[in-house]
Amino acid sequence: MRHYFGRNTALVAVLLVTTSMAQAEDVEVLHWWTSGGEAAALNVLKQDLAAKSIGWIDMPVAGGGGEAAMTTLRARVTAGDAPTAVQMLGFDIQDWAIEGKLANLDTVAAEEGWDAVVPAALQAFSKYDGHWVAAPVNVHSTNWVWANKSILDGLGIAQPTTWEEFVAAMQKVKDSGKTALAHGGQPWQDATMFDGVVLSVGGVEFYKKAFIDLDPAALGSDQMVEVFNRMATLRSFADDNFSGRDWNLASAMVINNEAAFQIMGDWAKGEFLKAGKVPGTDFLCFRVPGTQGDVSFNSDQFAMFAQTDPAAQAAQSEMARAIMSPSFQSAFNVVKGSVPARTDVPNDAFDACGKQGMAELAEASANGTLVGSIAHGHANKAAVKNAIYDVVTAHFNGEYDAATAVTNLVSAVEAAK
Ligand code: BGC
Repeated sequence: MRHYFGRNTALVAVLLVTTSMAQAEDVEVLHWWTSGGEAAALNVLKQDLAAKSIGWIDMPVAGGGGEAAMTTLRARVTAGDAPTAVQMLGFDIQDWAIEGKLANLDTVAAEEGWDAVVPAALQAFSKYDGHWVAAPVNVHSTNWVWANKSILDGLGIAQPTTWEEFVAAMQKVKDSGKTALAHGGQPWQDATMFDGVVLSVGGVEFYKKAFIDLDPAALGSDQMVEVFNRMATLRSFADDNFSGRDWNLASAMVINNEAAFQIMGDWAKGEFLKAGKVPGTDFLCFRVPGTQGDVSFNSDQFAMFAQTDPAAQAAQSEMARAIMSPSFQSAFNVVKGSVPARTDVPNDAFDACGKQGMAELAEASANGTLVGSIAHGHANKAAVKNAIYDVVTAHFNGEYDAATAVTNLVSAVEAAK
């Protein structure tokens, strides 16, 4: 009896060790969440996974828009050393799926009912060939302006609702000696402003024709000349040191009363919150004037790279399950500045900007005014995106005028598509 009991205990012990080994399996996570606000949001994820005994190996690659992260990823995969989970945007997910590198998440997706709660616009990127290959953690949007309330109040500037009012407001700030537009001159940041400017000129119809359908007539139109003219206007309101500045340092200029406005995706809100600022009191969030009702979105998803080790596969599934839980989606996105990637998460925990973001996303999705961000890989594959970046940035830096930019845009897109 004693002997039998002893053997059984040993068996249980072995099982426990095996199970805890499987549970303690690490995920190596490649991401570009390196700013203060981003790191705070990442901590919410790390802590959630730690509570589920999923170990975390951090692989940060700084650089908004994820270009540098994607270069590192390519090198890792080529070397036969793919990370377990990778923060990824839109068309990049599809590209890796086409290459056959991603894991199939159908089992966990079915167990958790993802089909019913993830918006179709996101599923278009999370699924390949009808199979789930990525878990969306959020929905960001790029056509936002972040404004310093005390500067606006001090100068008697009301929240602008049209492009003309916005330009007049920036002029007033500039005349006062402060920086009107906080901007970081990096191609992805120029392109992020471009998303909103395209919408402000021609609305979603023009945006879709030019940047989703890549119609040469729309790309080469007079409206596009106006888009580049507006970009040049924006540049005239940035300070002299904008070149190469990181986006979060531009946010800090608005936070620290040095600049009035920043046009940036809602990850900027994460920086304001990290600095203890309150929406409506310290800062304002509003759509790029002239784009109310339109939403240019991007969604951070975790793509899982296929593994052969069952324990690693189990850790990937558990990470995906954790990411998709409604309570996690609320806790994470409240800090990140984004909104949930599922339609059934209550908005109670969100601040005014978050509630507005959630309502406008639902509205735009119902009205057909939701478009994928050009700058953040949700309108085109990387080659086209990069071709657009090149033209937008060269023009923004004064290398050529608006008419030449349009000519170059048409040929660059044609060559890349
Ligand atoms: C990502 C955000 C990130 C931002 C700046 C975007 O491409 O979707 O999650 O905060 O880049 O790094």
